[in-house]
Amino acid sequence: MAKLKVGVLISGRGSNMAALIAATRTEDFPAEIVLVVSNRADAGGLAIARASGVPTAVVAHRDYPDRESFDRAVSAELERAGVDLICLAGFMRIFSPWFPARWPNRILNIHPSLLPAFKGLHVQQQAIDANARVSGCTVHIVTSDLDDGPTVAQAAVPVLATDDAETLSTRILATEHELYPLVLRWFAEGRVRLEPREGQPPRVVIQGVPPDAALLWRP
Ligand code: GAR
Repeated sequence: MAKLKVGVLISGRGSNMAALIAATRTEDFPAEIVLVVSNRADAGGLAIARASGVPTAVVAHRDYPDRESFDRAVSAELERAGVDLICLAGFMRIFSPWFPARWPNRILNIHPSLLPAFKGLHVQQQAIDANARVSGCTVHIVTSDLDDGPTVAQAAVPVLATDDAETLSTRILATEHELYPLVLRWFAEGRVRLEPREGQPPRVVIQGVPPDAALLWRP
């Protein structure tokens, strides 16, 4: 069967991108990364992608007068590469409404908190400041609302009394590298469905996996 073609968008280090590349190179993985796009030419992840033999493109947001023209340029790169699904992996730009409308239910994001708690930036520090005892990461479908959209899966870790933002980030990041490839596999296997709900946003149903498979608890 043809593999799902994935485009990964990054802005920096690219450790989630690297985890996705590694996963897709394991035997019989049903998706392949066909393009990595960065909005920054100095993103560390670009070198990792190139060293892995994955095509890369830089679309510098500063070269565009507004969000939508930048989004259209990114989209054109993804279309040229024949992308079916987009994975945001530390991509730190906010889209115009045009982008999620162009790729409806075909953009995933990973966010380092248990959404809907702690949106925006410095979310690990937000969790510590809020005295949260548990945090983690969320993979969700991207809609036009920032850090919102149907949750596909989450991983939870403890927040220790001794944590600072860096130690908590490291603990969460390890679960990100586990969760994102898992979700990508479910997408590529066609297991992820959106179930409409009366008066509420749709809910994600993952077919053919145990009900608790979409929660990783890593104490
Ligand atoms: C990750 O922790 C990711 O969840 C977060 O940025 C980091 C990127 O690391 N993303 C966001 O905060 C998006 N709102 P990476 O470049 O090593 O994957």
